[in-house]
Amino acid sequence: MSTWLYAKPRKRASIKRIGVFTSGGDAPGMNACIRAVVRTAIYHGVEVIGIMRGYQGMIEGDFVHMDRMAVSNIIQTGGTILKTSRCKEFYYKAGRMKAIEKLRQAGIEGLVAIGGGGTFRGAHKLYVESGIPVIGVPATIDNDLYGTDYTIGFDTAINTALDAIDRIRDTAIAHGRIFWVEVMGRFRGFIATDVGVAGGAEAILIPEERTDIDKLARELLNWHNMGKTSCIMVVAEGDEAGGAFQLARLIGEKTGLDSRVTVLGHIQRGGKPTARDRVLASKLGVAAVEALLAGEADKMVGEVNGKITLTPLEEAYSKRKPLDKSLLVLAQVLAT
Ligand code: F6P
Repeated sequence: MSTWLYAKPRKRASIKRIGVFTSGGDAPGMNACIRAVVRTAIYHGVEVIGIMRGYQGMIEGDFVHMDRMAVSNIIQTGGTILKTSRCKEFYYKAGRMKAIEKLRQAGIEGLVAIGGGGTFRGAHKLYVESGIPVIGVPATIDNDLYGTDYTIGFDTAINTALDAIDRIRDTAIAHGRIFWVEVMGRFRGFIATDVGVAGGAEAILIPEERTDIDKLARELLNWHNMGKTSCIMVVAEGDEAGGAFQLARLIGEKTGLDSRVTVLGHIQRGGKPTARDRVLASKLGVAAVEALLAGEADKMVGEVNGKITLTPLEEAYSKRKPLDKSLLVLAQVLAT
């Protein structure tokens, strides 16, 4: 009677109860993914336990039974109904042992871990130490995981940041000012690059590329002398030049041009997920449950070139996902 969308199991694993949790920084679309996990599991006759507050709730045994109604009307909401945490105690074996005991007591035979690199690092250790199969679902606004073209939350975050940049441009033009807009992304420049291109930024500064302060100052002065009075400079928070405030100060000293700084911050993490994020979250949620039922473990589900894929968790968090640097050149060409 069951339809399998992505996995074609030769033999179905005899899992009767799974746990699902969200961990690390929340990302829009996590709820759509929880919904997909719960409904797919129920469809396949598997019981679902929601683990509250990520690894913290796992250690404390903060578990809730989830039926199909527990996930109704959440596909459109930001945040995560299961809440989240960055749990220090789980870094240590003693913490993980407490969690494993709670999972065993609750009869949880498989796990779906929705989160980013830190979540998968923990999930891999948990699998190695307990043997409980874990499948990761990539959800972080940073889009920094190897093994998937996009992570859940990235599309919403870039659209939120873009909306802010469009507004900032209005006031930048009105005053003839330079605006340094800092976006999130932790150590990577995926958000900055896409938002910079889409927002027509005059410069995009990311950790993957060294910033030549003198060259940038000369360019800004050239543009200014050519009559271009306002500029949007998108800065990734992890940029080695030290973030938007530091850049504004350094360039201000060299050029004397008037500038302002906007740090978009956690605004980028909230809000309704976009259609793209909801679709991706739904696909990956289904794929994660199917992977568990097909006997897979210690892997991340992803989407690469439109195909559902499985990547070892260790690779997903430790391999460096390539960033398309040609977009930086493109932005530069289009800004001049
Ligand atoms: O990983 C998502 C993210 O929003 C990063 O972009 C950012 O560096 C970090 O989390 C902020 O984390 P916190 O909310 O714990 O300060």
